Amino acid sequence: MRYEKFSDIRQAVSACENCKLCETRKNTVFGEGSVHADVMFIGEGPGAVEDELGRPFVGPAGQLLEKMLASIGLSRSDVYIANIVKCRPPFNADPLPQYAEKCMPYLRSQIAFIRPKVLVLLGKVPTRFILGEEGSMSSLHGKIFRKGAFYIMPTYHPSALLRSENLKRPAWEDLKALRRLLDDISGV
Ligand code: URA
Repeated sequence: MRYEKFSDIRQAVSACENCKLCETRKNTVFGEGSVHADVMFIGEGPGAVEDELGRPFVGPAGQLLEKMLASIGLSRSDVYIANIVKCRPPFNADPLPQYAEKCMPYLRSQIAFIRPKVLVLLGKVPTRFILGEEGSMSSLHGKIFRKGAFYIMPTYHPSALLRSENLKRPAWEDLKALRRLLDDISGV
């Protein structure tokens, strides 16, 4: 599907009934941030707070993501934040592959419009669906992959950092590497 305007993708998402997640969602969660962003952060799918408010990463994981961004001099309005699936999987389960596959065209269209230079994949779900990598996050996090025009870095999902204090140090190393990459790209 080709969209004329970015807002056409949002409209298609809000009316989407391509999978069963539409039956239980309160709101679709399209994504938000700058459409001119150099970097896009991609999560799994909305949780309860996101479903309630129709905005990505606004619950506890989102608060941590904001702190992570701030630690490298970024705010939500400097980046674009989206998810693999736009509707909340019940019980916060990982989105099933059949739902993710139905939803991926929306994310691909968002990426095609925004044309970020860097994709940061938050956790194993986006790492599997965007990079096709099935390995553990402990082996993939912080590595910079090149795919087409994009630099792609998987890192830990903020929810994982909320559960495991000992992941915070490696996640901080990833953020510093991301900062260096963004500086290199922009010639700072
Ligand atoms: N977790 C995600 O992966 N995405 C959100 O938007 C919120 C929590």
